[in-house]
Amino acid sequence: MLFDHESFDGHETVVFAKDEASGLSAIIALHSTALGPAAGGTRLWRYGSDRDALGDVLRLSRGMTYKNAMAGLPLGGGKTVILAPDAFRDRRALFAALGRAIDRLGGAYWTAEDVGVSPADMAAVAAETRFVGGLEAGGLGSGRYASGDPSPVTARGVFTCLQVGAKHLWGSRDLSGRRAAVQGLGHVGQHLCHLLHAAGASLVVSDLDGARTAAVARRYHADVVSPSAIMDQEVDIFAPCALGGILTAESVPDLSAKLICGAANNQLADDRAAELLASSGRLYLPDYIVNAGGIINVATEILQIEDPAWLEGKLEGLGTTIKEVILQAEVLDGNTAAVADSIARRRIELHDRLAA
Ligand code: NAI
Repeated sequence: MLFDHESFDGHETVVFAKDEASGLSAIIALHSTALGPAAGGTRLWRYGSDRDALGDVLRLSRGMTYKNAMAGLPLGGGKTVILAPDAFRDRRALFAALGRAIDRLGGAYWTAEDVGVSPADMAAVAAETRFVGGLEAGGLGSGRYASGDPSPVTARGVFTCLQVGAKHLWGSRDLSGRRAAVQGLGHVGQHLCHLLHAAGASLVVSDLDGARTAAVARRYHADVVSPSAIMDQEVDIFAPCALGGILTAESVPDLSAKLICGAANNQLADDRAAELLASSGRLYLPDYIVNAGGIINVATEILQIEDPAWLEGKLEGLGTTIKEVILQAEVLDGNTAAVADSIARRRIELHDRLAA
């Protein structure tokens, strides 16, 4: 069930955490601690089966290894998924039980929020363990610099990478006059719309939530289209900020955008989509590089960094890394996703050898 799972990739540790009293059923996966303690958020989701949940946590934790390596953080990759109960007996008790499970790992893994989980949930985890970030009052996320919500920092990282992509494609980081389609107007999508609008780009947006599209339309003069139409718009930029798996061999040929860069995790459905993007002259900026602002913000808590310049440097570093990926893909005649994966793997391997 585990070692033959299609998403198993030499993960170091996989823990099944069960607490009958609170109803907690969770899986914690540590993919790699080669670069440092594993770090990655906790997702609360209703899965079709335990196997689906296992697949998700295995893929997500591996993604965190690559994300942290490419962001130049001394952190490995890990993730937690909680299998959403039919009804919560006591949500606080459930997250407290998760906190105890994380504490038993003795610091090999740090968590924070992911989909379906709030800073209040993380506060319940923090009552039982110190190995938790994403807290309202923690690190640089305390409000002194950025709010406890990492999303504004994530959006800034995406925007920095967008500018680098624009310079490569169009010769200038200037986005004024460019048209961008933003899919998903949640925490990150709305901040990204703000930054794009401020930079002079025009917007077309979609979300399942009509109140969100209405607010963004009003604030940023955005055109609103239905979720099914957002990938067919005539635009320069497509910014996926909702769900993963949207770039497929079927959807890519319909994209008019030359630059694809957004916050959503796991945007590529498969390798074929990545190859198709490259062979059709579209520039895809790998999601786990451009959306690393959130983990960089959380890392200030884990690593107890108090200097805002460190965070600024890391965000700028995402742009430098993206440029390296773009140029390597060009020189090697490869696609950006494959190039990013190979750079991440090399960073991890070399670290092992240096430490030996
Ligand atoms: P969120 O849950 O606040 O927002 C997601 C939005 O997408 C919601 O408004 C939802 O209604 C909308 N949506 C869902 N399906 C849609 C569809 N088919 N078409 C259009 N809109 C749709 O999530 P958040 O925090 O903004 O994150 C967005 C993405 O970025 C997620 O994939 C997340 O995993 C990823 N991410 C977020 C980070 C953060 O700092 N919040 C950090 C790194 C990645």
